[in-house]
Amino acid sequence: MPVIANADDIPNALLDAPGRGPCTALLMARPTHFQVESAINPWMKDAQGRLNLVDRDRAIAQWNALAQAYRDIGITVHEIDGPPGLPDFCFSANQSLAYRDTDDQPAVVLSSMANASRKSEVAHFERWYRDHGYAVHQFPEELWPFEGTGDAIRHHGQHAFWGGIGPRTSIEAWNFVARATGAVVIPLRLTDERFYHLDTCLCVLTTRTALYVPSAFDAPGLERLQAGFEDLIPLCTEDSRNFACNAHCPDDKHVLIQRGSDATVKALTRRGFEVVELDTSEFMKSGGSVFCLKQELP
Ligand code: ARG
Repeated sequence: MPVIANADDIPNALLDAPGRGPCTALLMARPTHFQVESAINPWMKDAQGRLNLVDRDRAIAQWNALAQAYRDIGITVHEIDGPPGLPDFCFSANQSLAYRDTDDQPAVVLSSMANASRKSEVAHFERWYRDHGYAVHQFPEELWPFEGTGDAIRHHGQHAFWGGIGPRTSIEAWNFVARATGAVVIPLRLTDERFYHLDTCLCVLTTRTALYVPSAFDAPGLERLQAGFEDLIPLCTEDSRNFACNAHCPDDKHVLIQRGSDATVKALTRRGFEVVELDTSEFMKSGGSVFCLKQELP
């Protein structure tokens, strides 16, 4: 399938993309060794420029509550644990892009992490996928970097991805991803270093609805988003800094979101979504929230 950059072509490309069901299972990585050890994104330091301090017990409790919230709405949660020395391992959105291929079989493209500190996370995920019968595709090193579903955001219901281009995923990545997965890919350039992964500034809720941070995109990107969604909900500055776009709607109905984004919660409730507010504050110290802490399994 092709990469679609022309906004006029997007509505039909999405309509024609092969159908995919809702998400029923996730892979979450336990935060056993979670820490902020070096700042690889702007959220990992405080106002004085010091590394944020993580309360790991609190992080584990928040992670358990998130996993339980998914189970409560009927989603299966698979768990993986990593070794010491990989402080960002728990952000399981990033090491891979799992999907169902054109023959309807489970498959995965492994990531090529932008930062050295995260590179060896990928092999642990690779082992999990191989043990669970996935067809595994390596990402070609010369196209580096690619950070999985940090930048590949599924367009719900369809075999299509919105593809972030920025500090974590190269522009060259997307032709490869489109070819390997057989999915439609619509590229979006990220323009603000605080919104360093697409999942910090775009949240697809349903096939027609999404949350987004308008200031995080360039003009062609905004045009593509307008073409792709009938109901595109802009976030206010306060909620975008509270990681409201890093929410997750697995089933067209429930939205799991960091608590405290009142305007966004109101906008979601008005549209009939059931909002599940959670506390991911320890993970926000590392630049992530709900969406980053899971991988949708096909
Ligand atoms: N500290 C991690 C990093 O910078 C956070 C990753 C959050 N993941 C995400 N999909 N936004 O890589």
